[in-house]
Amino acid sequence: MSSSLRPRPVPGLGSALIGAEEEALVLDVLRRKEPFRYYGTDFKSTPPMVATLEKEFREYIGTDYALAVNSGTGALEVALAAMGVGPGDEVILTAWSWISCFTAIVRTGARPVLAEIDESLNMPATEIARLVTPRTRAVVVVHYQGVAADMEPIVLEAHRRGIFVLEDCAQSLGASYRGRKIGSWGDVATYSLQYNKVATCGEGGMVVTRDQRIYERAVRLSDLGNYRPYHATIVPPHEAAFVGGQYRMSELQGAVALAQLRKVEQIRARCRALQARILPRLAGLKGLSLRKNPDPDGDLGFEPYLLLDNPAHVAPFREKLDARNVNCGARTGTYPQYNRDYMKSPHMTAHPATSPFRDCQEWPAPGYRPADFPRTESITGRFIALPLGVLYTDADADHIADSVIAVHGEVCG
Ligand SMILES: Cc1ncc(COP(=O)(O)O)c(C=O)c1O
Repeated sequence: MSSSLRPRPVPGLGSALIGAEEEALVLDVLRRKEPFRYYGTDFKSTPPMVATLEKEFREYIGTDYALAVNSGTGALEVALAAMGVGPGDEVILTAWSWISCFTAIVRTGARPVLAEIDESLNMPATEIARLVTPRTRAVVVVHYQGVAADMEPIVLEAHRRGIFVLEDCAQSLGASYRGRKIGSWGDVATYSLQYNKVATCGEGGMVVTRDQRIYERAVRLSDLGNYRPYHATIVPPHEAAFVGGQYRMSELQGAVALAQLRKVEQIRARCRALQARILPRLAGLKGLSLRKNPDPDGDLGFEPYLLLDNPAHVAPFREKLDARNVNCGARTGTYPQYNRDYMKSPHMTAHPATSPFRDCQEWPAPGYRPADFPRTESITGRFIALPLGVLYTDADADHIADSVIAVHGEVCG
């Protein structure tokens, strides 16, 4: 392209806004010399950062309890075990989902049962009816890249059958559905605060729930079985002690995460404004549709998706956008579970006896082969992601829309 090519805009959501607010809270932790969440230098008082983060998080989501942990993966492991998912159980999960959604289920001893996505790139409620068995204990609903799944029919379908709903909100902190924040619809929800997420502290996670028992179990699972006095002030303990892992968040992570949580609405507003400059201009382009969205008032808007009718158009379309310095991708780190390395044999766990697939006679077993997912294969082979950053300018957004229209004319015209 010519030397007048527009420079590539700087990507990033919360990470791009790290600044004075994060700095001030981190310095506060360091100056007090109190980086541990459960006690400070007097070994008695509760330091403020993680506790305040949990309080503001549950208020923001509109739920009763929030527990900070050290990653989104840790949040999934804790939440699944807190619901009582374990060996012999099945958990329904979209095949198109992040590594941890699958591995966290496997690590409880339960078997992930893979569902198709629809054009929203999320799970439709009809997949629960198709895949449920007497062993189904839970469904993990991933709100993929800023757009809520269609929660009302999902929750109705799952609860009618006595199945728990876990909302994985790792990629969608701040999105809402029918006027309520996602994470407040299911029995439990998890979040990630990893670097690429809406809000970040490098590594971090959150478990939220309205259920006192799930909260207490999650606390114990995250802290070596302990239920410390701080949590007893929130919910008095009822459960017999059991063995837990160590998934605690530090005050340093909590400080950054707190400053970032306070910026989520700003990030959401900016990304939605950028998206609103782009999407209306693309409606009606022949052979191209936009990601289905069950509630256009609620999404975060940081990653519009184009779905091309013709899969052969995807590679040239992307190359031409890239040549115009438009950030775009066919993948976002997510790809189908059935194509992942750990799926090469049913002995996918560190110790083969703990694999939920150890008794499978053939592998890949039915339900774990690409041919079993015609809809997911078709959709994911046809889309182009247009990631936006919170620092993108209006002119950057206009350049994206201009480029898509021009490239559409060249490739699909
Ligand atoms: C849908 C989903 N779930 C869980 C996770 C895991 O989060 P973390 O990287 O904080 O462990 C991610 C991270 O990318 C994710 O996208």
